[in-house]
Amino acid sequence: MAMIDIRVKILRYQPGQDAKPRWQVFAVKVEDESTILDVLNEIHWQHDGTLAYRRSCRSSICGSCAMKVNGRNVLACETPIHRFGTKLKIEPLSGFEIIKDLVVDLDPFFEKLKRIKPYLIVDRPMPDKEFVQSPQQLEQIGESTLCILCAACSAACPSSWPNSDYLGPAALLKAYRFVFDSRDDGADDRLEIVNDKNGVWRCHTIFNCMEACPKKIKITEYLSRLKLKVVENSL
Ligand code: F3S
Ligand code: FES
Repeated sequence: MAMIDIRVKILRYQPGQDAKPRWQVFAVKVEDESTILDVLNEIHWQHDGTLAYRRSCRSSICGSCAMKVNGRNVLACETPIHRFGTKLKIEPLSGFEIIKDLVVDLDPFFEKLKRIKPYLIVDRPMPDKEFVQSPQQLEQIGESTLCILCAACSAACPSSWPNSDYLGPAALLKAYRFVFDSRDDGADDRLEIVNDKNGVWRCHTIFNCMEACPKKIKITEYLSRLKLKVVENSL
């Protein structure tokens, strides 16, 4: 492990003070094995305590530290700086209103999630113990359950940028996760919700969401299966 000098350019915005976002450059000395979050902490603790950013778990679990680094959406806590070299350009996620610095307003993101009813809907008698699911049934939902709702995918989707009403990849992936869950009885409802001009048909198979996903979920593939299910269901 060695100490290195890096240059970090951060998009700052202080409501009530800045008319619009502005860049600020920091020269920082950090360990070469640092993550982006380590760098932000160093700046916050040693250079400028007013820098605002979200983080909680430091373990790629809570999904709160998604941001754009050198043009890529990443989780700050799991991304080593050596992936980008000694010049970092850090911005908040695109497509969301900035609350302060790297903190964006995720309310619209979670409102869209609520629209697809992100919970099990059960209309059949409850089993005595638990719902039994076969390996094949579990395979159907597969890695769609791994989403940590960091919003990196929705922020990377070009279909979302001009149209804030588009449900976006995260909400649609969640819809897939329940529609294909053998324990759920709410598929008809959800398929009707996503069968909309701002639902699954607004996805143009651009793949940015998949590239941005820190959990490497094959989002585009799942959305294609969801489209197929919508068609099958309406025949
Ligand atoms: Fe957007 Fe992903 Fe579809 S980037 S257009 S949701 S494949
Ligand atoms: Fe929780 Fe990064 S701090 S995912």
